[in-house]
Amino acid sequence: TQNPHEVARVKNLNLVQIGKHEVETWYFSPYPIEYAYLPVLHICEFCLSYFPAVKQLSRHRTKCTLQHPPGNEIYRKDDISFFEIDGRKQKVYCRNLCLLSKLFLDHKTLYYDVDPFLFYVMTLRDEDGAHFIGYFSKEKESSEQYNVACILTMPQYQRMGFGRLLIAFSYELSKVEKRLGSPEKPLSDLGLLSYRAFWSETIVALLIEQQKTGIELSIDDIANRTAFQPTDVLHTLQTLNALKYYHGQYAIVLSDTVIKNAERAMKKKRREVDPKALNWKPIH
Ligand code: ACO
Ligand code: ZN
Repeated sequence: TQNPHEVARVKNLNLVQIGKHEVETWYFSPYPIEYAYLPVLHICEFCLSYFPAVKQLSRHRTKCTLQHPPGNEIYRKDDISFFEIDGRKQKVYCRNLCLLSKLFLDHKTLYYDVDPFLFYVMTLRDEDGAHFIGYFSKEKESSEQYNVACILTMPQYQRMGFGRLLIAFSYELSKVEKRLGSPEKPLSDLGLLSYRAFWSETIVALLIEQQKTGIELSIDDIANRTAFQPTDVLHTLQTLNALKYYHGQYAIVLSDTVIKNAERAMKKKRREVDPKALNWKPIH
């Protein structure tokens, strides 16, 4: 039988105004029906509440004193911060976050039940506050060893290296937990592109560094150093064409092109996650 709600599952809102940015939406998100046909939805960039018009948002801002997301600031380095938000403790914020992110995520079911998740919100600080750039969610207990459920960079901040930062941060948490992690499947096209780029850059950098020691790393060694799951390491090495079969054994060999490309990429000025700036213990 057809789900009666399915009929309404077409892209509804076209534009959201958040902070200084007017953003075009990509996909359907189940905001209340009375908001669906507004020309622009106005969102408080700090608590993520939504309003039909600027007037209501301005009135809200006289009462909403937040200048950063709720939750604990578990990381701060330069102008970047991460806040950890428990879905059970901050239900309204986390539901608002899910509604907002669903506008840019097609393949995910939206969780109304935010209790089982932690949300890691990344912000960029200026004199007006800590502005929402992106986030990832993570199950408190994942039977599949997923370390990310959903991940998003707001469109106005995409292709600036923030997704890479979110991904790197998710693996830093896994390292502290002493676990190997992987993002929840299926990945979107953009998710796959970003993860592949991150996996291969990280693995190649590690292998180049390791060459200096003369000691070879196995797939499991790479997994343990990076907190990537061995299957992700294996697939990445296959994509790089770096697995060679010699004398009945596999060896990891990087081609000159791969090394040159990596060295060029490492010269790009990029924000990195600094593990020393992370102040966090797993809750379980
Ligand atoms: N085209 C080609 N390559 C891309 C693209 C793109 N549009 N976007 C990212 N990449 C690759 C590139 O290699 C890029 O590095 P480069 O810019 O140096 O070439 C690399 O990924 C990292 O790019 P970032 O700028 O760090 O990533 P961004 O901040 O744009 O965020 C993200 C990536 C989070 C996937 C973003 O595109 C997004 O939010 N998309 C919508 C939501 C989504 O699809 N999320 C993933 C769903 S899967 C899941 O949730 C587990
Ligand atoms: Zn607010």
